[in-house]
Amino acid sequence: MTLRGKYALVTGSSRGIGRGIAVKLAESGAKVAVHYYQKEDHAKATLEKLRACGSDGFVLQADVCKPEEIRRMFARVKSEFGALDIFVNNARPEVATFYEGPMTIGLDMFDFAINSQAKAFLVGVQEAVPMLRDGGRIIALTYAPGGRFGSWQPWVAMGAAKAALEVLCRYFAVALASRQITVNAISPGWTEDSVLNTLPEAVQTMIRNWHRGGWTPMGKLGTPSDIGNAVALLCSAEANWITGQILDVDGGASLMDAHLPLEIQQVPAARGAQAA
Ligand SMILES: NC(=O)c1ccc[n+]([C@@H]2O[C@H](COP(=O)([O-])OP(=O)(O)OC[C@H]3O[C@@H](n4cnc5c(N)ncnc54)[C@H](OP(=O)(O)O)[C@@H]3O)[C@@H](O)[C@H]2O)c1
Repeated sequence: MTLRGKYALVTGSSRGIGRGIAVKLAESGAKVAVHYYQKEDHAKATLEKLRACGSDGFVLQADVCKPEEIRRMFARVKSEFGALDIFVNNARPEVATFYEGPMTIGLDMFDFAINSQAKAFLVGVQEAVPMLRDGGRIIALTYAPGGRFGSWQPWVAMGAAKAALEVLCRYFAVALASRQITVNAISPGWTEDSVLNTLPEAVQTMIRNWHRGGWTPMGKLGTPSDIGNAVALLCSAEANWITGQILDVDGGASLMDAHLPLEIQQVPAARGAQAA
């Protein structure tokens, strides 16, 4: 599989999953615009990784909560690359900006989640499409459980925002099908080297042990390169008939049944999995 000659923009690729995606696209031959919000040095480090694998690109800054900054970002992509083949909508603001339960959350926090996900994706796709070449790829990063369930109370704003983003994927998929542009969402399971590593150590350990203990059948968390691999697959020529879908990339975590204790489900223990 090669993406040689393709141009990509990955929002939020200064670190975490976005960096894993940018590196994988570069390894496959694409040139990548590395977007950041505040951490320019991290974005430059990503760019160095792209160069180390024989590709290139440039770094650019924007707050995705501000439509005019998204427009400025795409204008820069146009002036640097001249065209675009892959747009990955990955950026997500710090958890503290939207983390509040449904009975107490204020409209400012709710808006923050919606603006950074649903509205940013709407504006981003509208800006991307005029410079996307036929057969292009649009991929949004979601967290599908947040929109499907109601138990993680302080995730209500982000859950609603990601659900809206997933709906937009389906509508854009139909709107852009005549140009053979595909639009899909990827829903990672909990992933190492991401927002996870910014959480208190005790919380990280609890999450790792939960998944290693059987709630991820493959017995471990994902990595940014696991998610990058999935994005690269969707960008391949062979994925040209896949559109409007939400792909869980989670070692089987989304297949688990929360109605039953693990002991009754008899999930075979993953080889080599152990508690932190
Ligand atoms: N981590 C997981 O386990 C997991 C699971 C499921 C889904 N996801 C999804 O995967 C995506 C990436 O998650 P992550 O954990 O890898 O993220 P992360 O490590 O927290 O990185 C967030 C990225 O978004 C950028 N960003 C933050 N606020 C921004 C703003 N206002 N405007 C523009 N960019 C902004 C950051 O830029 P700076 O570096 O400049 O601050 C950074 O590049 C998200 O969409 C998330 O919902 C993650």
